[in-house]
Amino acid sequence: MNNLKNLRGTVDLLPDQLIKWQNVEKIILEQLSRASIKEIRTPILEMTELFIRGIGEATDVVSKEMYTFLDRGERSCTLRPEGTASVARALIQKGISSNPLQKLWYMGPMFRYERPQAGRQRQFHQLGVEFIGYQSVRSDVEIIAIAWDILRKLGIKELNLEINTLGDFDDRLNFQKSFLKWLEMNKDSLDLDSQNRINKNPLRILDSKNIQTKKTLENAPRLFNFLSEKSHQRYSDLKKQLEILQIPYVENYNLVRGLDYYTHTAFEITSGALGSQATVCGGGRYDDLIKQIGGPNTPAIGFAIGLERLILLAGKELEVPRNTDIYIVNQGLIAESLAIDLSRKLRNYDLLVELDLSGASFSKQFKKANKLKSKSIIVIGDNEAANKEFIIRLFDKESFENKEEVISLENDIKLEKWLNINLLVK
Ligand code: HAM
Repeated sequence: MNNLKNLRGTVDLLPDQLIKWQNVEKIILEQLSRASIKEIRTPILEMTELFIRGIGEATDVVSKEMYTFLDRGERSCTLRPEGTASVARALIQKGISSNPLQKLWYMGPMFRYERPQAGRQRQFHQLGVEFIGYQSVRSDVEIIAIAWDILRKLGIKELNLEINTLGDFDDRLNFQKSFLKWLEMNKDSLDLDSQNRINKNPLRILDSKNIQTKKTLENAPRLFNFLSEKSHQRYSDLKKQLEILQIPYVENYNLVRGLDYYTHTAFEITSGALGSQATVCGGGRYDDLIKQIGGPNTPAIGFAIGLERLILLAGKELEVPRNTDIYIVNQGLIAESLAIDLSRKLRNYDLLVELDLSGASFSKQFKKANKLKSKSIIVIGDNEAANKEFIIRLFDKESFENKEEVISLENDIKLEKWLNINLLVK
């Protein structure tokens, strides 16, 4: 029988790799809580209709990439390809009017049936942030600044912020009429994929990577020229405020994003340090989404960062695990049970305590402690157990010698004093 393997495009994350993930997540969560953004968790599985209505039937994500199936009750279910639609659904269900302004984040797996390559998986992870109910340009600026600062805090280099405006529904309708006319006239100069999009999702053609199509598009009408005075003003306010914050940006008129719900501000952050899948963060305003899926008219803006790409970018210093503070070497029936008790007591001091459960010889246990570079070692053998005490040993960096102390298992005051002097000082 063949060995069972994980599915293509999915990845096992093993303990050594997860050190970096955990360090990255910790920095992100600290940043989010400092900005008073609250966590929301929604189900991974949703009704398929949510994404059809929310993301748009003609998008690649919905038409080609979703993991959709009928459950045993014949309901069409989909593994979420992104988090924005689910957050919107959850808030509508709860009643947005009772809490009209919310700053939320989520982190977790998303699923898209794409061709796997470096930085692109079928099961991948996103950190998403959504500001619900916020209308002002300042909320666009805060969202962009939060994404930017998370990436900067993680020491990620060669960051480029690209921005665009997609206007509102009416702006786009006006543009679409004239763009469609132009597309029909220039159809033969477009690649096949773009030709197929003319009737399904013409705006996405602007995002084509085909060189010939890109060249042809240089002469196409620009959405920018169809924006109302108000939309123009909004976009220029956004740019001004980014400049005040000294967040550098590049304008990209062809940035339309792969999901249909965007209005006004759209942005992406790429890093030159990534390969072809350079976009580490994507987001924008989605003022019509909540209404579109059955809620009240509610403006909103957000972004999502792809965690796999973030991990590829984050520095090696984040791969370093926390050092073991105390390694407990123990042997003998009574000693072993006393050692468990002691390990529990020590962990109450927020120390990283590893209890050796191997039953191996003392010398092997010491070797393991040294290999882990444990800051200190506790020893309990038959003699110590009989005396109800343990030995604690620490390598003194100043004298280059081992400092050793015998402490009674009942003398918590002496233990605490020793820990305070030797391990708990920062
Ligand atoms: P998105 O641009 O589709 O936006 O995805 C955001 C980020 O997720 C991408 O920039 C990328 O880093 C990562 N990503 C997407 N697909 C994959 C994949 N197959 N493998 C690895 N990473 C991937 C959204 O999903 C929107 N919900 C963002 C948003 C939130 N807009 C407003 N609020």
